[in-house]
Amino acid sequence: MKKVVVLGSTGSVGRNALDVARRLPDEIQVVGLAARSNWEVLREQILEFRPSVAALVDPGACQNLRKTLPNGATRLVEGLDGILDDVLEQEADVVLAAITGAAGLPTTLKAVEKGRRLAIANKESLVMAGKRVMALAREKNAEVVPVDSEHSAIFQSMRGSRSSEVTRLLLTGSGGPFRETPANELQGVTREQALNHPTWKMGPKITIDSATLMNKALEVIEARWLFDVPPERIEVVIHPESVVHSMVEFQDGSVIAQLGLPDMRVPIQFALTYPERRPLEIDRLSFPEISRLTFEEPDRGRFPALDLAYRALETGGTLPAVLNAANEQAVERFLAGTIRFPQIASLTRQVMDHHDAIGEPEIPQILEADRWAREEVDRCLS
Ligand SMILES: NC(=O)c1ccc[n+]([C@@H]2O[C@H](COP(=O)([O-])OP(=O)(O)OC[C@H]3O[C@@H](n4cnc5c(N)ncnc54)[C@H](OP(=O)(O)O)[C@@H]3O)[C@@H](O)[C@H]2O)c1
Repeated sequence: MKKVVVLGSTGSVGRNALDVARRLPDEIQVVGLAARSNWEVLREQILEFRPSVAALVDPGACQNLRKTLPNGATRLVEGLDGILDDVLEQEADVVLAAITGAAGLPTTLKAVEKGRRLAIANKESLVMAGKRVMALAREKNAEVVPVDSEHSAIFQSMRGSRSSEVTRLLLTGSGGPFRETPANELQGVTREQALNHPTWKMGPKITIDSATLMNKALEVIEARWLFDVPPERIEVVIHPESVVHSMVEFQDGSVIAQLGLPDMRVPIQFALTYPERRPLEIDRLSFPEISRLTFEEPDRGRFPALDLAYRALETGGTLPAVLNAANEQAVERFLAGTIRFPQIASLTRQVMDHHDAIGEPEIPQILEADRWAREEVDRCLS
C-alpha cells in the first residue's frame, strides 16, 4: 500500500490522479489532499477518499467547507502553512505535486526536504529552481519521478540505460491549436480558440502555454534538470498526433520512444507505482487506425517562447524564474482579455531583457526575482 498526498487535487492532474487511486484501491491510499479554493470538489474528494488531512489555501473557502463537512476523521487545515505544516508533515510515500504555477515551489521543496518521492507535475518549480530542487533531492535521498507525459516518456525510455549513453532528448509537442495559423492572424486569436487544445484536456494555464509553445519551452528547462542533460542536447519536435510522447537518442544512434494515446493517467499511475507497472483499463493504440505519425520542426518565428527558454538556460541564475513569472502574469492578462496572444511572449521577452540575473541564487532570491518579474509585466503594460 503506497500512501499518497495529492497537492492540487481539484485540478486536471489531481482529478486524474484520484481516478488512478480509485482504480487501485489495494495499492494506493490517499492520505492528504490540498487545493486553493474549490471547496465543493474537495468536499467530494474528502468524502470518497477519507484522507487524514486536507487543506485549502483560501480561508473563506475553507470556512465554507468546514460548515458542510460532516464530522469525521479528516482534519481540515488552512493556508499554505496548513499544507506545509500539516499535509506534508504526515507519513507518506509519494507526494504528487500538481499545484499549478510558481505557487507550487514551496510545497515541492518541502516534499523533497522530507525525503518523500516527488511525483512532479508542477514543472514551474523545476523551471524556477530545478538545480536547487534536484540537489536537495540528492541530499535527502528523495526520488523525483516525472508526471509530465514527455518527461515520463523520457524516464521510461531511459530505464536500464546510463545517462552517459544518451546523446539527445527529443521532446515532442502537438504544436497546439495555432500550429498552422499564419503569423498575421495570431494577433486576433481569442481566449476560447487558445483554450481549445487539439489533443490534451488540461487546466487553463498549461493550455495557453501549449498554444504559445511556452509549455514546450518550460519542458526544455524541466528536462535539463530532471535528466541532467545540457540544453544543446535537448530538442523539440512537433508531432501533431501526440502519440509519441518523447524519445531518447543513444550514442549508437538507437532512438527509444514511449507511445500511447494521450491520457495523463498513464504517466500519473507510473509515477505513483514505479518501479512497478500496473494494469490500466484505457483505450489502446491501433496503429492501422492511426495509419501515420508525422513530425516537423517547430516554427521559432511564430512561436518565440522556445528561444526564450534556451536563452534563460544559457544565462541561468534567476533568469528562468523571471521567464516563468513573466509568462504566468502575461497568461493571466490574456485570460482576462487585457492583452493579445502574441503579447504573452513579447512581454516575457521584454521582462527578461530588463532583468539583471543573479547567478547561483538561493531560494529567497528566486522568489524575489519572481515577484519583480510580475511587477515588471505590469510596468511594461502601463
Ligand atoms: N493538466 C495536464 O494534463 C498536465 C500535464 C502535464 C503537466 N501539468 C502540470 O501540472 C500542474 C497542474 O496542472 P493542471 O492542468 O492540473 O492545473 P489546474 O487544472 O488548473 O489545477 C491546478 C490545481 O492547483 C490548485 N492550486 C492553484 N493555485 C494554488 C495555490 N496557490 N495553492 C494551492 N493549490 C493551488 C488548484 O486548486 P483550485 O481548484 O482550488 O483552484 C487545482 O487543484 C501544472 O504545473 C501543469 O503545468 C499538467
